[in-house]
Amino acid sequence: MEELILEVTSMRKLYNDVEILKGINFKMKKSEFVVVMGASGSGKTTFLNCISAMERFEEGTVKFHGIDIGKYNEKELAAFRRDELGFIFQEYNLLDTLTIRENIMLPLTIGQKKEFIQKVEILAKMFQIEHILDKIPIKASGGERQRCACVRALIKEPSLILADEPTGALDQNASRILMRSICEMNKKFATSILMVTHDPFSASYSDRVVFMQDGKIGRQLCRDSQNQELYLNEILRELYAEGRNF
Ligand SMILES: Nc1ncnc2c1ncn2[C@@H]1O[C@H](COP(=O)(O)OP(=O)(O)O)[C@@H](O)[C@H]1O
Ligand SMILES: [Mg+2]
Repeated sequence: MEELILEVTSMRKLYNDVEILKGINFKMKKSEFVVVMGASGSGKTTFLNCISAMERFEEGTVKFHGIDIGKYNEKELAAFRRDELGFIFQEYNLLDTLTIRENIMLPLTIGQKKEFIQKVEILAKMFQIEHILDKIPIKASGGERQRCACVRALIKEPSLILADEPTGALDQNASRILMRSICEMNKKFATSILMVTHDPFSASYSDRVVFMQDGKIGRQLCRDSQNQELYLNEILRELYAEGRNF
């Protein structure tokens, strides 16, 4: 059997006695690129936050490489988040007073900085930001800033990237460049990706789309050997089936 990076079993999460996640079962293979789609308020962000142990949940387990992270103490959880996970959000969360290069190197310890100099160049090239590495973020476009945030998330070679609507604030062209780079990174470094998006076109870069509805994962689509266009059509058909609007 193929190795699982993530296995979520019967996850239930309440906010103020309201059930937000209603028993989620979800598996993800190593190096898989999975997208989560679903209406606003259906629990996508909460799901990611529970996986990364940023939020506690009432019932269920999260296994990462077969290990139940619910058994970790605070220190082990902090190490898990630092060493295994990379985060990309809709907001880029860059520091304005540092250059793009300094922002990217921020997660590294002083001792690590030297050994990662070349890695920054390689990733910057892949994400098409090598020409702005020594500029401050305000001099870069939104798309470039988000690509910088991706490189910062990747620099420590996490095994799983959690991305919450990374193209949410980008125009179509910038979204396309970002998604191509993310896809290339997934193929080249075999980084597993779990990404929430509203955008069917961004979703069409994935291997699989799962649809969250009312706190549960319902249907899913696999790309298999389809080309991107056919896969996109399948995603669109699923989204507009039964008048659902994501
Ligand atoms: N910190 C919180 N306290 C109370 N309710 C919350 C909190 N965060 C999210 N919720 C509620 O949980 C539901 C799911 O939210 P969320 O996971 O952000 O959905 P999505 O990311 O799919 O839009 C929403 O009804 C939201 O109002
Ligand atoms: Mg959300």
